[in-house]
Amino acid sequence: MKDIILDFLRNSDDFVSGEDISRELNVSRAAVWKYIKQLRSEGYVIESFSKKGYRLVERPDILNYEEIKDLLSTNYIGRNLEYFETIGSTNDYIKKAAENFRGEGLVVIAEEQTSGKGRMGRRWVTKKGDALAMSILLRPDISPYTAPSITPVLAVSIVKALNNLTGYNLGIKWPNDIVLNSKKLCGILTEMNAEMDRVNYIVIGCGMNINQEAFDDEISGVATSLRQYGNKSFDRKEIAAEVLNEFEKAYELFKREGIAPFIEDLKKYSVLIGKRVKISGIGESFEAEAVDIDRDGSLLVKLEGGEIKKVLSGDVSVRGLYGYIPD
Ligand code: BTN
Repeated sequence: MKDIILDFLRNSDDFVSGEDISRELNVSRAAVWKYIKQLRSEGYVIESFSKKGYRLVERPDILNYEEIKDLLSTNYIGRNLEYFETIGSTNDYIKKAAENFRGEGLVVIAEEQTSGKGRMGRRWVTKKGDALAMSILLRPDISPYTAPSITPVLAVSIVKALNNLTGYNLGIKWPNDIVLNSKKLCGILTEMNAEMDRVNYIVIGCGMNINQEAFDDEISGVATSLRQYGNKSFDRKEIAAEVLNEFEKAYELFKREGIAPFIEDLKKYSVLIGKRVKISGIGESFEAEAVDIDRDGSLLVKLEGGEIKKVLSGDVSVRGLYGYIPD
């Protein structure tokens, strides 16, 4: 009911009388007043005058379904959207929710994560108000072997969405990072629940730096935000919706044709190709030159002796050696 009242107010530029709302929705005027108070407590600024009624003056900068739905053009991704002011980790929340939520496309967005996770056991900090921490539940009918390719599919979607909205020139640091001006703007963490030959579900989460003015000392040298780069703020709702819109199109294509249609974009947006890199994986670490993205989305590097080696995304960390690319 609260959401219907909000829609009522949003669809009117002028005052709407409490009487009209209560008649239209068949609830008492006292109930209307109760919902108006609830909306105010969520940050909606609603004027009220006794003879005129209510008017929505300002909407809060929050990322719930009510605020995002008009910007979404998706069929199923984000059509179930849960929003939290504070959560442990949006990826972890989805993993639990996946036990009961049968379909795919559930999206969880949080303002703040108290135990946000990065790749390889690292911590990911999400503070209130400035960032976007968002996870998506997927159930593609693919083998566990091809599941890691979902990560570059989201990476390409994010780069396209952000380049469109900002006019900036973002790139992908294979396989998980989105970079701007050689600093990290966004990281992606993909987790999977699978059997040997089939995927039960995948959770793909992204943490995006949008309106932060500054970062903690430990990451200030390697992290950036859209705000820091362009000295202006961006609407997080628009960004969340545009990423989901781009991603649903890309994900549908991926389910039909695999990673092949994304290879050109992965090459185009790659910030690694042509650079010296250090590859650190389980039990090995070596330096090489990144030379190409292979047909299956893996990174091809050239070793000292000229031999070409394929690097699968798995548990590797890629560090740019010359021309700083954040790890
Ligand atoms: C990385 O660069 O190491 C990956 C960072 C991924 C962070 C996101 S924020 C939303 C989702 N929930 C998490 O706990 N982690 C991912």
